[in-house]
Amino acid sequence: MTTPYGKDVILIVDDNVITCEVIQRNLEIAGFHVFKAHSVADAVQIFSRQKIDLLITDYKMPKHSGLELIKYVRDHFQDICIIMLTGYGSINSAISAMKEGADDYITKPFTDKELLDAVKKNIWQRKAKKIDPKSLYNDAWTRFGIMGHSPKMLDVYSRIEKACKNDAIVLINGENGTGKELVARAIHYSHKVRSIYPFIPINCPGIPASLFESELFGHVKGAFTGAIQNRKGFFQAAEKGCLFLDEISELPLELQAKLLRVLQEKEITRVGETQFKKIDVRIIAATNKNLEDLIEKKLFRQDLFFRLNVINIDIPPLRDRENDIILLAQHFALKYAKELGKEEPVFTDKAIVALKKYYWPGNVRELENLIHRNLIMNETDYIDSVNFPDIMKYTISCGQPLNLSLEDMSKKYVRDVVEQTGGNKAKALEILKIDRKTLLKKLK
Ligand SMILES: Nc1ncnc2c1ncn2[C@@H]1O[C@H](COP(=O)(O)OP(=O)(O)OP(=O)(O)O)[C@@H](O)[C@H]1O
Ligand SMILES: [Mg+2]
Repeated sequence: MTTPYGKDVILIVDDNVITCEVIQRNLEIAGFHVFKAHSVADAVQIFSRQKIDLLITDYKMPKHSGLELIKYVRDHFQDICIIMLTGYGSINSAISAMKEGADDYITKPFTDKELLDAVKKNIWQRKAKKIDPKSLYNDAWTRFGIMGHSPKMLDVYSRIEKACKNDAIVLINGENGTGKELVARAIHYSHKVRSIYPFIPINCPGIPASLFESELFGHVKGAFTGAIQNRKGFFQAAEKGCLFLDEISELPLELQAKLLRVLQEKEITRVGETQFKKIDVRIIAATNKNLEDLIEKKLFRQDLFFRLNVINIDIPPLRDRENDIILLAQHFALKYAKELGKEEPVFTDKAIVALKKYYWPGNVRELENLIHRNLIMNETDYIDSVNFPDIMKYTISCGQPLNLSLEDMSKKYVRDVVEQTGGNKAKALEILKIDRKTLLKKLK
C-alpha cells in the first residue's frame, strides 16, 4: 500500500473542528499523512480525489451520520480501515458500526495513545491480512521471498538487487537469526547466470582446521593418510555457482591467509598437488560479529576484510524494525496453520503489544519458533500473550533516554517491573532477584 506521500494516509471526519485538529496534529507527529473533513459530504469529496488507508469517523454528525459514511466506504472501497468514534455509553452505535463494516471503535473520551494504538493496530492488521502466500514473490511486503517493509529492509532489498546483477563479493552482517542465509540465497537464486548452478553453504567453524584446505580446495589420492582417492573440494563443487562462507569471523588466522590468496588469485591448488586450477565461484560471506572490532584485536586480517567487504549488507535486528514484527508473525502464522491443517489464527491485542515490545535476542528465528510452537500447542484459533514465555509478558521498553544515573535507573526499573507484573510483588522479586526489604526501599 504505497501512497504518493510514502506514508499511510488517514482521513478524520468529525463536525467538531477542534477534535479534528487535535487528532490530526497527533497523527501527523506519529508519521501519518492526515486529511480532515467536517461532514460526510466533504469526506465523500476527499475520497474521490485521494487514496485513503484509514478512516476515523465520528458517529453523530448533522445531516448524514458516520454510519452512512461507513456504508458508502464499504460499498466503494473494500481495503480502507475504518475506526468509529462513539460517545460514552453508546455501545449500540458501536455494534451497528461494526455490522456496517467498521474495523474498530473507540469510546470518547480517549487518550492520544489509545487512538494511536488503535490506528497502528488496524493499519497493520489489514496489511498483514492482505498477504497471500501465493503472491509472496511479488507482493509489496516481500522481495525475494524475504518479508519486511521497514525502511531498513528496503535498503537490504536494494543492495540484494545490486548484488544479483554482478559477481562482486558480498559481506552480510547481522545478529543471529536475522536472515543472513536467506539473503545469501536470495542473491544467488536471483542471479541471471549463476542461479542454475549450486549454492553451497559452509559453516566455517564446523570444519576442523586440519581438514580445511582439503575440504575447500580438494585433495589428490595419497596426499595424506586417509586420502584414498582424488576428491573435489567445495570450491570445485560450487563451480559457476556460489559459496556461502557462514560465520567467517571464526576462521583461524592462518586459514584466513589461505582464503585471501584464493580470493586474490581466483585459483586453487588441491592438497598434494602443485598445479593451480582456475575457479569461477561467487563468494558471499556472513558474520554476526563486528569484523572491524576483531581486526583491532588482531583476530581478523584487515586485508581479507577489504577483499570481502565489496558489497556490504547489514541486516537490522528485529527489534529495530517494529513494523515488520507483526507482518512476520502473521506470515509465520499463515505458513504453519497451512502446514498443520488449521485455521489461520487471529492475534489478540495483548499478543500484538507483547510481540512489539519484546527485545527479540534470537530475532526472526525466535519469532518463527514462537508462532510455530503456539500453533502446535494451542487448541484455540487465536494467539494470545498468555501462551508466550514469561520474559515476553514482562518486557519493558529499552529505549530509555540517556539522562538517568545508575541509581535512578535502577529505581525506575524496579517500578517498571512492579507495574508490568500488575503489582504482583512475589513475581517482581523473582524477576529482580532481590529481597523484599530492598524492593520496598527502592519503591519508597
Ligand atoms: N525477513 C524474513 N522473512 C521471512 N523469513 C525470515 C526472514 N528473516 C529470517 N527468516 C527466517 O528466519 C529463520 C532464520 O533465518 P536465517 O537462517 O537466514 O538467519 P541467520 O542470520 O543465517 O541465522 P544464524 O546467525 O543463526 O545463522 C529462517 O527460517 C528464515 O527463513
Ligand atoms: Mg545462518
